[in-house]
Amino acid sequence: MSDRSVVSGAVTTDVDGGGAGEIPALAPRADFPILAREVNGKPLIYLDSAASSQKPTQVLDAMDTFARTSYSNTHRGAYTLAEEATGAYERARKQVARFINASSVREVIFTRNTTESINLVARTWAEANLRPGDTVLTTEMEHHSNIVPWQLAAERTGARVDYVPLTDDGELDQAAYERLLETAKPKLVALTQMSNVLGTLPPVKEMIAKAHAMGALALLDGAQSVPHLPVDVRALDCDFLAFSAHKMLGPTGIGALWGRRELLEAMPPFLGGGSMIREVKMSGSTWADLPQKFEAGTPAIIEAVGLGAAVAYLSALGMEQVRAHEHALTRYALERLATVPEIRIFGPGAEARGGTISFTLGDIHAHDLATLLDRDGIAIRAGHHCAQPIMDRYCIPATARASFYVYSTSSEVDALAEALERAHGVFAL
Ligand code: ALA
Repeated sequence: MSDRSVVSGAVTTDVDGGGAGEIPALAPRADFPILAREVNGKPLIYLDSAASSQKPTQVLDAMDTFARTSYSNTHRGAYTLAEEATGAYERARKQVARFINASSVREVIFTRNTTESINLVARTWAEANLRPGDTVLTTEMEHHSNIVPWQLAAERTGARVDYVPLTDDGELDQAAYERLLETAKPKLVALTQMSNVLGTLPPVKEMIAKAHAMGALALLDGAQSVPHLPVDVRALDCDFLAFSAHKMLGPTGIGALWGRRELLEAMPPFLGGGSMIREVKMSGSTWADLPQKFEAGTPAIIEAVGLGAAVAYLSALGMEQVRAHEHALTRYALERLATVPEIRIFGPGAEARGGTISFTLGDIHAHDLATLLDRDGIAIRAGHHCAQPIMDRYCIPATARASFYVYSTSSEVDALAEALERAHGVFAL
């Protein structure tokens, strides 16, 4: 296996072999213990990183060491361990703030995941700001977690939800977007930075500028983008950004919401309880400053340490390099997979997408395909990918989906293509 080595946080280009034309993994595969296992007697080929990523030893060790040596609750005790735990938790917040170029660490709220981050805004900002007849504009390309919270907010406030349509090529219809901005005059545009089904990377920077020009705020669903691209909230000029740790080499159970400080300060709290208060009287309560106002209850402390370690790992690789690696793999995969008989690949060309490829194969059901590939040790996702409006748009019940990350290689793409060719042969009989 041709790998790069991460040595003391620096990436070397000490690439170990690899066949001619082979695209090696960007990160050392040996850092990911799970990649050494077999599934059904075959080496695991993990092509489901859009659902959840695998964890490097550096992340697992950081959490283990913290739990063994420094764990206690945060923000509560005056003893040494409590100070160490609080320090570790707040260091992770600083790492995340730096990773997305936030101007203040107070703008980073730890949540459970992207879904909870979006729900936080759809509960607090929406309830304080939406009135009957107002519009939230989202898109036909969204994950359910950037649709359903807005539908629920609309039910509570009397607002409505509108959708930017998808083109046949899997892009957002920009002319329709501009029309909707003018006619619906949305209060907020809720947009994915990368489709979890089509891989599409919409031109979010331009779309945000257009939203602002029409007086709308812009929320980005960064679940698929923050793990895979350099994301700079100040350069993008968005108002909110939501993402999850588990898709970026970190643990489950923690994610983040970044928001503009003045917006977060004006928003009412989300969950009530310990840690988020300034003062509680039986007659009523007042709220802590940011970010504590939005972090009720004991947070995911060990997981925050893991997220910090994941951010350090990705930063050592370099997010430009992560993007370049996945772009090269995606270009290769789109060409290689196109040679599989009866395959239909959804979404735009390699220049306009990230490393996520959805496809159908003849009339083989996606679930049957995933089950068959599992016999070869290949893990892909099948289904509607929590994005039923996309399935409706293309009149299909489901797709199979392969998705790449820093440990993926072009040999794995070849193995996928060969397994699909065999599957096609089996079902064609
Ligand atoms: N949102 C994740 C996916 O697309 C779970 O698979």
